[in-house]
Amino acid sequence: LRSLMNLEDYERLEVIQDVKSGLTAVIAIHNTKLGPALGGCRMWKYLSVEDAIIDAFRLARGMTYKSAMAELPLGGGKAVIIGDPGKDKSEPLFRALGRFINRLHGEYITGMDVGTTSADMDWVYKETPYVTDITGSLGASGTFTADMTAYGVYLGMKASLKKLDGSDSLSGKVVAVQGLGKVGMFLCRYLALAGAKLIVADLNEELVQKAVMHYGAKATPVKDIAQELCDIYSPCALGGIINDTSIPQLQCRIIAGAANNQLAEERHGDVLHSRGILYAPDYVVNAGGIIVTAAELNGNSPSYARSRVERIYGTLMNVFAWSDKFGISAARAANQLTEKLLSE
Ligand code: NAI
Repeated sequence: LRSLMNLEDYERLEVIQDVKSGLTAVIAIHNTKLGPALGGCRMWKYLSVEDAIIDAFRLARGMTYKSAMAELPLGGGKAVIIGDPGKDKSEPLFRALGRFINRLHGEYITGMDVGTTSADMDWVYKETPYVTDITGSLGASGTFTADMTAYGVYLGMKASLKKLDGSDSLSGKVVAVQGLGKVGMFLCRYLALAGAKLIVADLNEELVQKAVMHYGAKATPVKDIAQELCDIYSPCALGGIINDTSIPQLQCRIIAGAANNQLAEERHGDVLHSRGILYAPDYVVNAGGIIVTAAELNGNSPSYARSRVERIYGTLMNVFAWSDKFGISAARAANQLTEKLLSE
């Protein structure tokens, strides 16, 4: 572990086991300097506790950076349960997790993530108040969070155009959207309304047809989407999509999408920079979801959340200004700005 990550960066690691319920889980708290660590609970068939720790650490750190750049009074943390979400879920298991979380007295707040649902969070809630996304919350339905995530990405595209062209108009601009799930479809709607021309791809043909019918999009196979000639390439499906194989094939001027961890490695941000492709760092533009969760935790209204999402445009412009000032990639600039915030 020590050779893989800088353990001193992290505040807390709890490896927890509850034999009665069959729970084995990890809670990682990266940083609570700006506030309690918020980050969902993932359930996955990890092959070992080490794999779970590495994932929890990586995800917790990502949450710190996302919340800090969104100017939220929150830190970063993550829980991961080792298990098969299709087979191993039970009320006792999630309640055991809830009891462990409760012992942290609010230092860590959990929620939904890959492999968990609002019903699972309802069980956690029976043991602790430090949980979001319970039934009836905005996070549980996912619709508003996805809409706001898409809105933030859309504003990120506009800021990127402003930086390159001096105008942030999307009218007539060609945008290639990869992934037409909850976020990607909302994004297509914003883009179509702004007069952009869409090229889309998804593994699910029904979703592709929906974008073609509703938003006049042109469909392209998944294998070709990253290579389409376009103004903006928008990864809204998977992480790690910007890598040594994909970068030479890109024919876009800007990358701005919702997927987490788009850069396979930080150095790929530098490669994009040297190729003259403007990268809107993922955690800066896809913070809409966490902004909604934070607003809900604080008792703020959806319209307040929306107004906070609008700040993403200005934040991204600051990232680009920092990148210009020091001649570094936008990815590095965002990381440096976050680290500056955390050290102040
Ligand atoms: P989703 O699961 O609703 O949609 C993902 C879509 O991508 C699916 O339609 C799937 O068929 C498609 N897909 C999978 N592999 C693909 C490939 N190789 N090429 C093209 N399409 C592919 O997920 P959602 O909620 O729309 O999120 C999209 C991305 O944004 C994810 O990476 C997620 O982690 C990230 N994100 C989502 C937030 C939210 O509020 N929902 C917040 C922040 C980030």
